[in-house]
Amino acid sequence: MLNPFRYGGVVGRDAFCNRSTELRDLARAMQQGERLFVYSERRLGKTSLVRLAMEELPKAGHVPVYVDLWPTDGEESFITVTAKALTEAFETSAERMLQLAGSFFKRLLPVLTVDDQGHPQVRFEVREMKRESLPLEEVLLAPARIAEKRKCRVIVSSTSFNGSLNTRATGSSARYAVQSRVRAKWRTSSSEVENT
Ligand SMILES: Nc1ncnc2c1ncn2[C@@H]1O[C@H](COP(=O)(O)OP(=O)(O)OP(=O)(O)O)[C@@H](O)[C@H]1O
Ligand SMILES: [Mg+2]
Repeated sequence: MLNPFRYGGVVGRDAFCNRSTELRDLARAMQQGERLFVYSERRLGKTSLVRLAMEELPKAGHVPVYVDLWPTDGEESFITVTAKALTEAFETSAERMLQLAGSFFKRLLPVLTVDDQGHPQVRFEVREMKRESLPLEEVLLAPARIAEKRKCRVIVSSTSFNGSLNTRATGSSARYAVQSRVRAKWRTSSSEVENT
């Protein structure tokens, strides 16, 4: 008999077992604009659960945005990674990505690239030479602003912040400063799910 379990990365619908109550509750919370945190020990299926709940949202009027914060190491990378995830969740054409960036991320510089299949991708750089005041507010307010403009609900889900923010250079206070500003501000007309 074939082993029905797949081990390794995030599992999708084809290999996802059980958790139907959690899936339903999570999808309903997302649609109602609730804000929640999914906590568990490592490798118990948080990301798979959150991603599948996002996939199963009605397509009409809902835009799921998944932000992987694990590779980020501070405020600047939080800003650029989040702006990229938001832009790519809404737009697939290069021209429209630039339009969205121009409207909602005025203090960031969008750089377009093309992946192996020829699909446009965007990354962001901080425009200012001086990085003393990073455009964190602009990015934190973007989901609500885009939702209002596009008349849709934006469901933002992020992984937890990387422990590497606790380096000697930044100090653990830097991590908590960014994290608490994100948690306080990221209350939008959208729903936020953070899986830690
Ligand atoms: N619903 C499920 N059905 C079957 N297997 C699952 C399910 N959820 C998780 N798994 C298994 O557990 C592994 C870890 O899943 P996942 O990456 O979603 O967990 P996680 O809690 O987000 O992990 P981490 O703590 O590393 O972020 C998967 O590779 C898969 O083998
Ligand atoms: Mg995970």
